[in-house]
Amino acid sequence: MEELKQCFIEQFGEQGNLTSYFAPARVNLIGEHTDYNGGHVFPCALTLGTYAVARRREDRAIRFYSMNFEESGIVDVQIDDLRYEEQHDWANYPKGVAVIFQQAGYEITTGFDVAFYGDIPNGAGLSSSASIEMVTAVILKDLFNLQIDRIEMVKLAQKAENEFIGVNCGIMDQFAIGMGKKNHAILLDCNTLEYQYSPINLKNEKLILANTNKRRGLANSKYNERREQCEAALHTLQEKLDIQSLGDLTTEEFEANKHLIPDKIVGKRAKHAVYENNRTIEAVEKLNAGDIRGFGKLMNESHISLRDDYEVTGKELDVLVEAAWNEGAVGSRMTGAGFGGCTISIVPDDRVDSFIKVVGETYNAQTGLEAEFYVADIGDQAKKL
Ligand code: GLA
Repeated sequence: MEELKQCFIEQFGEQGNLTSYFAPARVNLIGEHTDYNGGHVFPCALTLGTYAVARRREDRAIRFYSMNFEESGIVDVQIDDLRYEEQHDWANYPKGVAVIFQQAGYEITTGFDVAFYGDIPNGAGLSSSASIEMVTAVILKDLFNLQIDRIEMVKLAQKAENEFIGVNCGIMDQFAIGMGKKNHAILLDCNTLEYQYSPINLKNEKLILANTNKRRGLANSKYNERREQCEAALHTLQEKLDIQSLGDLTTEEFEANKHLIPDKIVGKRAKHAVYENNRTIEAVEKLNAGDIRGFGKLMNESHISLRDDYEVTGKELDVLVEAAWNEGAVGSRMTGAGFGGCTISIVPDDRVDSFIKVVGETYNAQTGLEAEFYVADIGDQAKKL
C-alpha cells in the first residue's frame, strides 16, 4: 500500500487527500457455467486482489495508472467523452464502470486520479477484470458520496463488462467480489440473487490453486458460444415446459425431456448446466454437514462434466486435475470459465508439499508448461481501506 501511495504521488503529484481501496479476486468452488443459466454458484473472495489509491480532481479529467502496466503510462480521459479504446487496454475496465454508473444516473461530478496495483495472476481465470471493476465501483461510491447499495454496484459492474467490454459474463464474479466474506463461500441463486454464506473451515486440508499458465486464447468467443447453445436449448425446451431458465430443471425433468433437443452438442451443453446446478446445491449441503469427501467427489464430477459435456477444459486443465486426483486430492476441478486458467483442489495438509511437487512435475512433463501453486486464502469483499 505504501509503495502504491508513493507511486501515486510520483505520477499525479502530492497535494490533496488520498484514499485507499481494495477488491479481491475470486475462486469458484463449484457451480460452473451455471450463473447465466439461472442456476447456483458457490464462489469465494480471495486475499489476492486489486489495490487502488484515488483522489478527486477539480476539473473533468480522469487519469488512470497501473503499476502492473507501467508501459501504458498514464491513461488520460475526460468524463464527458468516455469511449472504449483498444489502446487503453486494461483502463477500459474502470472507464466502463464510470460510463455505466453515469448511464444509471449516478453523477460523477468531478474528475479523479487513480493508481492501481494488483497481485492477481493475469489471465488465470481468477477475475482480475471483475476485481478492477469492483474496486472502481467502490471508489466512485466513496469519492462522490453515491447513494447506491452493494447489489446495485455488483449489477452495474457486470453491465460494464457486458456492454462496455463486450464479454457476456454472468453475475458470479462481480457478486463474489462485491459480497464475499472472510473464510466463507457464497451459495448464490443467480436467478433470484438470494444468497447464503457457508463457513469454510477446513480442519485438515488446504485449498490449493494451480495455474496452468496457459493463456486463454479464444476464450471470450467460445464463452459466448456456450451461452448461445444453452439459450437455444432453453428455447426448445420452453416449447413444452413452463421454465424460465435451465436452472429450473431437476435432473429427472431434464432426462424426461432431453429428446426434445435435436442437436446433440446443444443437448450436452444443457445437460451440464442442469446437472451442475443440482450438483452445486447437493455439494453445499454436504459441505455444511461437514462431509468434505462428499463435497470433493462432486467437485470431481463437476470437472468431468465440464470436460465431456461442456467441453471447456482442454489438455492443460485436464492434466492438472488428473494429476491432482492421483496425488490424493479430496477433490479437484477447473475453476472459472475454463480454456486455461486455474484448477482448485482440496488437499490434505500432510500431502500439500508432495502434491505441489508431483503435480507440478507431471504437468511439466506432459505439457512443457510450468504450473504455479498458491494456497487459496478466503478473504473479504471489496472495500475502502
Ligand atoms: C466466467 C464468467 C462468470 C461465469 C464463469 C463460469 O468467470 O465471468 O460469469 O460464467 O465464467 O462459471
